[in-house]
Amino acid sequence: MNITTATRLEGIGEYYFSQKLREIEGLNAAGKDIINLGIGSPDLPPHPDVVKVLTEEAARPNVHAYQGYKGVPAFRKAIAGWYHTWYNVELNSDTEVLPLIGSKEGIMHICMTYLSTGDKALIPDPGYPTYSSAVKLAGGIPVTYTLNENAGWEPDFEALEAAGLENVKLMWVNYPHMPTGSLPTEELFRKLIAFGKKHQILICHDNPYSFILNEKPASLLQVEGAKEVAVELNSLSKSANMAGWRVGMLCGAKERIEEILRFKSNMDSGMFLPVQLAAVKALELGKDWYSEINAIYHKRREKVWELLNLLGCSYSESQAGMFVWARIPAGYKDGYTLSDKVLYDANVFITPGGIFGQAGNGYIRVSLCGSIEKFEKAIERITEAIGSGEK
Ligand SMILES: Cc1ncc(COP(=O)(O)O)c(C=O)c1O
Repeated sequence: MNITTATRLEGIGEYYFSQKLREIEGLNAAGKDIINLGIGSPDLPPHPDVVKVLTEEAARPNVHAYQGYKGVPAFRKAIAGWYHTWYNVELNSDTEVLPLIGSKEGIMHICMTYLSTGDKALIPDPGYPTYSSAVKLAGGIPVTYTLNENAGWEPDFEALEAAGLENVKLMWVNYPHMPTGSLPTEELFRKLIAFGKKHQILICHDNPYSFILNEKPASLLQVEGAKEVAVELNSLSKSANMAGWRVGMLCGAKERIEEILRFKSNMDSGMFLPVQLAAVKALELGKDWYSEINAIYHKRREKVWELLNLLGCSYSESQAGMFVWARIPAGYKDGYTLSDKVLYDANVFITPGGIFGQAGNGYIRVSLCGSIEKFEKAIERITEAIGSGEK
């Protein structure tokens, strides 16, 4: 049988982590016991009240049917309430909120809704690899814009204009930025909205990290008039430790929600009702919840800094989000070389920055999703295998 894949899959590689995880599994099968500091999936549980709602609701007989495409009103209201409480953004819960099965699917939905073949979308480099895959799968052309450390990892709007913006329909942005952890300023958000308006580009802000190691969660929708030209994705994966539950949301103008729903309603059949009701509980958690998880991430981050110091890396201490992004020391060709050395010599996996784009080549990224003991063990192994700051 000659089964061929569709041309749209050309250039869409297997996700780096699935390949690497297979290699790590192989090393583990050979008795290595690799410590994986690569993946950003929270290891901490959700709040017990959230789990309680899920289990109680799931035990009821009448909650198992298909759900509406827009989620139940209580869930949409809780999303609007969360935006009001934490971001001071007003959203109409009937028309300006769309629950998603994780924010990742929203990236695809947005690309499928707005990109025709040959349309362009601006993609950050370094940035979350899904943006460019989704643009390509939708038939669009990803055009990368480089983020530089010395420009605070912010886009260079003048350079973008100088390069030409013909056929650019979307711009993907993400602050706190993954992988660099850089935080947005109000001025940056204002500039993004002004840029979108000036060039008629839909600004798509992906905002899953605003509660992690960040005292002041911010939303692009805080900028006056933002809804005219921007949409925002958000998620409970990191803020509520619910990555596996798949709960995300899209917020924006009524028209955008309706347009995106035209695509999305052909893809899934709603979200399990008990998950929606438990998500309501998660969205109602107060400051104590965020302080509690952040206290844990603070302690872990100190260990990660210790580990990075051993490797001779440099990093900003004011990063937000679930990772530490660090510049590799001179003497290594790139982050892949350092990552492989640490993997093969010390049995510890650290993500090479190059998987997030060319501009990430001189960096590595360490996830904070591990226990203190795990980081201490990694530090011990690196000290033994590599020594302090040596190459
Ligand atoms: C920048 C960024 N956007 C989106 C996502 C997807 O999150 P979700 O679990 O809500 O689909 C991730 C997950 O790692 C991410 O790092």
